[in-house]
Amino acid sequence: MNVTMERSVSLWMNSGPVLDAPLLRSDERADVAIVGAGIAGLSTAYELMRVGRTVVVIDRGPIGGGMSSRTTAHLASALDDFYHRLIARRGLETARRTYASQAAAIDRIEHIAHHEGIACDFARLNGYFFLSPGDDETLLEQEIEACEQIGFTGVSWVDRAPVPGIDTGRALQFPNQGRFHPRKYMAGLAHAILRDGGRIYANTPVTAFQETETGVVLTAGHGHQIHAEAAVVATNSPVNDRVAVHTKQAPYRTYVIAGPVEAGSVPDALVWDTQEAYHYVRLQPVGNGADMLIIGGKDHKTGEAHDMGDRFVDLEAWARRHYPQLQSVDYRWSGQVMEPVDYLPFTGRNHGNQRIYIHTGDSGQGMTNGVAGSLILRDLIVGHENPWCEVTDPQRISLTAAGEFLKENIDAASHWAEHLTGGEVASTNDIPPGQGAILRDGLKKLAIFRDESGTLHVRSATCTHAGCVVHWNPFERCWDCPCHGSHFAVDGSVLNGPALTSLPKADYEE
Ligand code: FES
Repeated sequence: MNVTMERSVSLWMNSGPVLDAPLLRSDERADVAIVGAGIAGLSTAYELMRVGRTVVVIDRGPIGGGMSSRTTAHLASALDDFYHRLIARRGLETARRTYASQAAAIDRIEHIAHHEGIACDFARLNGYFFLSPGDDETLLEQEIEACEQIGFTGVSWVDRAPVPGIDTGRALQFPNQGRFHPRKYMAGLAHAILRDGGRIYANTPVTAFQETETGVVLTAGHGHQIHAEAAVVATNSPVNDRVAVHTKQAPYRTYVIAGPVEAGSVPDALVWDTQEAYHYVRLQPVGNGADMLIIGGKDHKTGEAHDMGDRFVDLEAWARRHYPQLQSVDYRWSGQVMEPVDYLPFTGRNHGNQRIYIHTGDSGQGMTNGVAGSLILRDLIVGHENPWCEVTDPQRISLTAAGEFLKENIDAASHWAEHLTGGEVASTNDIPPGQGAILRDGLKKLAIFRDESGTLHVRSATCTHAGCVVHWNPFERCWDCPCHGSHFAVDGSVLNGPALTSLPKADYEE
């Protein structure tokens, strides 16, 4: 099981190919074992095979079915956290390398799609960044200046962003951005990996990681093992680690709607604004005279909101005001992004390991960071120089991000402290059918879901990763852990790591 089993269905899940892969049913051996069959894991496998390494890829759910199927798949070399802020926090050289890595990732996707003949609707297009009402006008000026400093050429002013319903005022235009259909692209990658002798296993969670002097042994769900010289953990939130990297990033839920517009009635571009959390917009061609308009936003810290209905109402109101061509809203879904404290992902050797590598902390740029990460991991594993690995080193300490680090960890500590507070409901009678709530039972907290038939599903509310109290997600109908991003189904099964084991069943009598 994985996040495919959460309630909402993305446009990609409904329109992309389904790629079957078997369960792991015997021990395996390869040069590199890769955990996570999303954009980062599949891209890493593909790159390693190009330099002669054998690979095994394994995922707890279907191939390409994790958070990579809940993205909006913007391919942006513009930075969603702004280059001028990155320069202030990590310096000019880091910002230069970051831009180079994002631009190279789009180039790499374009090259692979062309070379492998993957029909994934890849297109180059412009990106536009405009000011939300009331936001600081100097934001755009600072950003264009930062782009000039880091060598991002061609960024220019335009009188307005191509948003049909409003006059955005002057905006920044970024050349050479891109878009694609992520599931079609990932399916193409998987076919290429299998064609060249790579092995891919689905629906098989890895439950243990062991590093020896000569290699790595991964143990999977049914006890079968994968022996490799190195392992890459490319899951949304790393499943091999209890603490280290998890103190440097925080999980956020983000929301997306999509619906048809007449083909050609809305310019094909990436568009985003300065609002906190920002809106992000793109098109996806779907044929029959229509494009799908995709609009995301309304992010919040995972587990810290229950008002998803209101968030979708706001998102749709914003969409209709800015894009009157939107005919209907056919899709509503959510995903989870990991926000690093210093804006950049964590790609490289894991804390305390020699042979285990991670990729996480994508912020809102999962597709480009995932592909740039695959190039970094390939070079690190084969021992080549890589110009970007220093800036994404998971072991880095960013003193300029100390405030953010402290804030996120105080936040996590407050979720551990919830073991001492009361429950959300005093009795199971207060839980309507189809909903869940946290109930205190003596010293314990219980996560209780009442199904439509009235049956109660009672589980411990203590996250099996590191002990925070999980929260009910009424939109996706699952339990979300606010600390490091685990999600659990109503029967307690893990849908998203870092947790490896289910919420245990608990007894409760009213
Ligand atoms: Fe770490 Fe829940 S995800 S405690």
